Amino acid sequence: MSLIKEIDYGTPIRISEAMVTLTIDGQSVTVPQGTSVMAAAMSLGTKIPKLCATDSLEPFGSCRLCLVEIEGRRGTPASCTTPAEQGMIVHTQNDRLATLRKGVMELYISDHPLDCLTCSANGDCELQDMAGAVGLREVRYGYDGHNHLHDVKDTSNPYFTYDPSKCIVCNRCVRACEEVQGTFALTITGRGFESRVKPGPTDFFGSECVSCGACVQACPTATLMENSVIAMGQAEHSKITTCAYCGVGCSFKAEMQGDRLVRMVPYKDGKANEGHSCVKGRFAWGYATHSDRKTKPMIRKSITDPWREVSWEEAIGYAASEFKRIQAKYGYESVGAITSSRCTNEEVFVVQKLVRAGFGNNNVDTCARVCHSPTGYGLSTAFGTSAGTQDFKSVAKADVILVIGANPTDGHPVFASRMKKRLREGAKLIVADPRRIDLVKSAHIKADYHLPLRPGTNVALINALSHVIVTEGLLDEHYVRERCDLQDFEIWARFIADPKNSPEESEQFTGVPSADVRAAARLYATGGNGAIYYGLGVTEHSQGSTMVMGMANLAMLTGNIGRDGVGVNPLRGQNNVQGSCDMGSFPHELSGYRHISDDATRNIFESLWGVKLDDEPGLRIPNMLDEAVGGRFKGIYVQGEDIAQSDPNVQHVTAGLAAMECVVIQDLFLNETAKYGHVFLPGASFLEKDGTFTNAERRINRVRQVMAPLSGKHEWQITCELAQALGYDMSYSHPSEIMDEIARLTPTFSGVSYQRLDELGSIQWPCNEKAPQGTPLMHIDRFVRGKGKFMITDYVPTEERAGPRFPLLLTTGRILSQYNVGAQTRRTENSRWHQEDVLEIHPFDAESRGIKSGDLVSVASRAGDISLHAEITDRVQPGVVYTTFHHAVTGANVITTDNSDWATNCPEYKVTAVEVRRTNHYSQWQERNNEEDKIMRRIATDHVEAAE
Ligand code: SF4
Ligand code: SF4
Ligand code: SF4
Ligand code: FES
Repeated sequence: MSLIKEIDYGTPIRISEAMVTLTIDGQSVTVPQGTSVMAAAMSLGTKIPKLCATDSLEPFGSCRLCLVEIEGRRGTPASCTTPAEQGMIVHTQNDRLATLRKGVMELYISDHPLDCLTCSANGDCELQDMAGAVGLREVRYGYDGHNHLHDVKDTSNPYFTYDPSKCIVCNRCVRACEEVQGTFALTITGRGFESRVKPGPTDFFGSECVSCGACVQACPTATLMENSVIAMGQAEHSKITTCAYCGVGCSFKAEMQGDRLVRMVPYKDGKANEGHSCVKGRFAWGYATHSDRKTKPMIRKSITDPWREVSWEEAIGYAASEFKRIQAKYGYESVGAITSSRCTNEEVFVVQKLVRAGFGNNNVDTCARVCHSPTGYGLSTAFGTSAGTQDFKSVAKADVILVIGANPTDGHPVFASRMKKRLREGAKLIVADPRRIDLVKSAHIKADYHLPLRPGTNVALINALSHVIVTEGLLDEHYVRERCDLQDFEIWARFIADPKNSPEESEQFTGVPSADVRAAARLYATGGNGAIYYGLGVTEHSQGSTMVMGMANLAMLTGNIGRDGVGVNPLRGQNNVQGSCDMGSFPHELSGYRHISDDATRNIFESLWGVKLDDEPGLRIPNMLDEAVGGRFKGIYVQGEDIAQSDPNVQHVTAGLAAMECVVIQDLFLNETAKYGHVFLPGASFLEKDGTFTNAERRINRVRQVMAPLSGKHEWQITCELAQALGYDMSYSHPSEIMDEIARLTPTFSGVSYQRLDELGSIQWPCNEKAPQGTPLMHIDRFVRGKGKFMITDYVPTEERAGPRFPLLLTTGRILSQYNVGAQTRRTENSRWHQEDVLEIHPFDAESRGIKSGDLVSVASRAGDISLHAEITDRVQPGVVYTTFHHAVTGANVITTDNSDWATNCPEYKVTAVEVRRTNHYSQWQERNNEEDKIMRRIATDHVEAAE
């Protein structure tokens, strides 16, 4: 294995149908028009010396190192800023150029520390390389002149250090922050010799910087350097793998020394991220080797007993015997499993197979139940496929971007950077969100319309938008006639044209001024390519599925499906939420979204698996918990999910778990759910896995193992051994064999294999005979279901309404630095940015309750109450409060209710009626949970002592 080094063309790859042919150092080369002379030379393998240029950034032309001679032109133009032209004859090397380049390098080196041997960039420094490339042997100016060698380092960021003594003011960091990340946190202050890079008036930590690391990656010297490299030195080999956080699915080079990770470098050829990343993927991987990791299997008879470390054989044998005992006593339907959207497709597939073939029922569900299940239902009803319609790069062709119930800069940061780039180029933006999310106004971006609707009124708003388009005749009649079911459309058009759906009538529910709704509708319908991006602010509602269909209606109505720049795009929360759904994790569906009751489909599985499958859908997660409380559901296998923190109405969840006789936890850590566990099977971090994740674009990415599983076993092996112990023979020698089985059983995956993935880099399903390279854009000529289906989307107000007892509406969301239940990010330095969940409250609501910023406040709903600190802000509107749910101690889901989407049971996390009051104590639940935490820690510590 070696270190993967990507070619740097110096300037971005240009795409053009027009080609130009030129001669460089006597060699002919043909490149797309717009390509720089530097990139054209590089495509011949000719490296022109450079410092300020790199191919992730537009050419800047400041260092003057890349000078060339072009026949017929005066002077020595910079090759990075000079476009290649037809017939050009270029010379990149001669004595004159060599002298000029040496002179440039002499100036740089005269103000640069000569500590190469002890420098953290030693072996990976472009300045060092260029000194070598130009043959610098002496510096005529000496080293004692006016210099910056004693400038003070900025070590405020936990992940990287800024050492200005090494800065050559090439501006790459500033441009990376602007062009790639879109944050504009850095500037060059001063002029000439005084020029310095500054993160605003403060240090990096206190600045606007979001720690994406793009500047660190762009820096050609050791000025901006990862602390891990400073501590460990350069890596010696690397592998391409996929981030294990969000559904963007960024590809990284995991750069290693032996089996120790040195750094994660975003992979330029990664189709989802094209060389960019956010703070989580690039830096927040320390949890993988955190001392809290449990790496030995453990069991206990009762949840009040201490855990006992046992062999794998004993743990798996005990779990299997308990499941068998329970099924014998309470019936075959008394056990089930939950698959994890954090795990690989292969790991998920074997868990649902274990349930169907080993338990003999369909009681398998996935954590997607509580986030994007309405996406599956809504999009498959309207279009025929339970997935987003576009690839990410499609946003570069969007003219009007409608963001609904999503906060991309926090939740999907790398996609947000792409989107912001398009917005800076002039695309229009409509944001529908109760909160003023960052996209509404940030550096060089301002939403054309922010529609700050009241939580729970999405459907009223989407209907009002469609109403305007239909009644003002702004629809794309040709598209509707050609592509959609006309009968359904006509019924729907009559429904939507009803004045009850007008913006004026809807305003009483949404609170959004009707004039803004009308204007936004006109913009979306007439502004060119209209693209909808949405998140959990759409799905986690009692009408989540209705809203997804409402967005599909809007897109079809305006002809915005089936080409670049348009579409209906769910921004998936977790790394493999798309994949876990694709793999047949829902109780009513086999892989590829085929209903369990379909005899032909079941027969295919039965003949390959050698078992008879139950044709009745099994229990969903909430039903499993209800049945547990009712005494009929007694055993569960939970793969990598912390339902005692992440699911709504926590007290109901924990009552269900406590009522079970065998709770098997497969996880990295003893999480909240493990408090109710009887068997703990240690899982593996993404660095220890081999497999695939599927991102929000339906892109199947490879996850490659860079270190051995700390527990000694792969997660798919654990599941297979459990199945065998249950009496069902399930075994594979490598996860590629699991993918081969998935491909055999699933028409949309039939062309997928590890070999194809290695050849193509990644594949967007469907991938089969019809689409051997995969499918970036869906529904191009026809919808997967044939004709697009308009669905009636009556607005039905949620039962969860503000009233005298609970006059405010709580909505929840995420923050950039933390991730979901925080199990990973809380075990990294990311906690420095977000140490606790706080309650955002509008100044009016705070003042009427005598609340000041920083006060401890009690938030009570009909489900429970918690206390947390208040932050007064007008990001939220009056009547609405907001919090995150990253810290288990907060217990945000103690107060969310068990209301859920009518079609899929996805919980209504986004609307909870609450009252907020000042308090001086934490809630009873929090106090109790705190005590339980102490007990759990003591049990773990007692146990470790006993083991020693
Ligand atoms: S880490 Fe990212 S946000 Fe921060 S200064 Fe660098 S490029 Fe800008
Ligand atoms: S910090 Fe690095 S990238 Fe930024 S100007 Fe200095 S040398 Fe260039
Ligand atoms: S955007 Fe998502 S996938 Fe990409 S690095 Fe960040 S957390 Fe990972
Ligand atoms: S690389 Fe062309 S001017 Fe710096």
